[in-house]
Amino acid sequence: MIIAPRIRGFICLTAHPEGCEQNVVNQINYVKSKGDIAGPKRVLVIGASTGFGLSSRITSAFGSEASTIGVYFEKPPAPGKTASPGWYNTAAFEKKAHEAGLYAKSINGDAFSDEIKKQTIDLIKADLGQIDLIIYSLASPKRVHPKTGVVHNSVLKPIGQVFSNKTVDFHTGIVSEISIQPANEEEIENTVAVMGGEDWAFWIDALKEADLLAPGATTVAYSYIGPSLTEAVYRKGTIGRAKDHLEATAFKIADQLKEIGGNAYVSVNKGLVTQASSAIPIIPLYISLLYKVMKAEGVHEGCIEQIQRLYSQRLFTGSDVAVDDKGRIRIDDLEMRQDIQDQVSALWIEATTETLPELGDLAGYKKDFLKLFGFDVAGIDYDKDVNEVVEIPGLV
Ligand code: NAI
Ligand code: NA
Repeated sequence: MIIAPRIRGFICLTAHPEGCEQNVVNQINYVKSKGDIAGPKRVLVIGASTGFGLSSRITSAFGSEASTIGVYFEKPPAPGKTASPGWYNTAAFEKKAHEAGLYAKSINGDAFSDEIKKQTIDLIKADLGQIDLIIYSLASPKRVHPKTGVVHNSVLKPIGQVFSNKTVDFHTGIVSEISIQPANEEEIENTVAVMGGEDWAFWIDALKEADLLAPGATTVAYSYIGPSLTEAVYRKGTIGRAKDHLEATAFKIADQLKEIGGNAYVSVNKGLVTQASSAIPIIPLYISLLYKVMKAEGVHEGCIEQIQRLYSQRLFTGSDVAVDDKGRIRIDDLEMRQDIQDQVSALWIEATTETLPELGDLAGYKKDFLKLFGFDVAGIDYDKDVNEVVEIPGLV
């Protein structure tokens, strides 16, 4: 079929298999161009199909020749219906990994469930024996709790007071004022239940219990801080509470892994256009201004540049992992540079519907959004008939 974007709000209902494949190939080529990384050889990525998780899987495989198992939750294709982009990304990744002689298998299902954890454990036992690195990169709006069956829904709200600020609808470019009512206690708890560290700890417990953690095993989860501009709705809002919990969990897991000589880290990454971040109010306006400034300064990075740098300059350098005063790895260093933030703050004040196309990189934002779904990718002929039914070669 001929596949065009069908956008509804924060998502695109269609995805292009060849565009997704090209995105993956571009990421693979980037990692290869940067040379070998002395990283671990048996890697489990939870949330492996898009965003930072996909880039982590690619960096492990093509930077360190690692065997990878990916866990993700994606919609398969059907005749006349496209898959979700993470499906096509994974199909492309596993095809390329297998061509390169690398082990790559995956499991599609709810990573929060006991069942998917068990399937993953069985696969590791059968194929890899143990795991050296676990990347935890889930972003989800909800979680069915495996012990209680309760469905927790996360919200993106401030805490304690109404938050009013500018936002942009990145499809129309209209800048407007929004006010977001503060979350109540239950909403805070639910958001922490979804995006906090409990499930990460459950994964590590389950792997440890099954004796699947190799000596020196390391685990890394991803967090965000961002500027004071977005603080009330992000870091000091409900999602920030979840990130506080995730960061606190890293210390607990690190303690637990000490006996096998392992460690647990949270890496604070840069704000980027992903399916998860485009749904957060205020963030798209901030990101479009940030992109403009970082591109002008020549320090812009996407997911793959971030993760390649995380691996090669933080995690696997052969010396101690550098962390901040709260024990976190910082790969958001360029985003948070004072001169960058000063410029973004100045532009923020000036940004209106009329001025944003000039002041911000709205075009870059839109392009990156479409790219998430395999559209607007250089070299792809979108008028061509393509097969929407694509199989994932290593899907278990
Ligand atoms: P994303 O939406 O691109 O990726 C989410 C991944 O989780 C996908 O592989 C998806 O299939 C998987 N997933 C979601 N629900 C699942 C479930 N129930 N079971 C199994 N897999 C499931 O998100 P992104 O942006 O890469 O986020 C990953 C992490 O990075 C999150 O913790 C996020 O907060 C963090 N982060 C994101 C930043 C951003 O600007 N996008 C900045 C810094 C950190
Ligand atoms: Na991810």
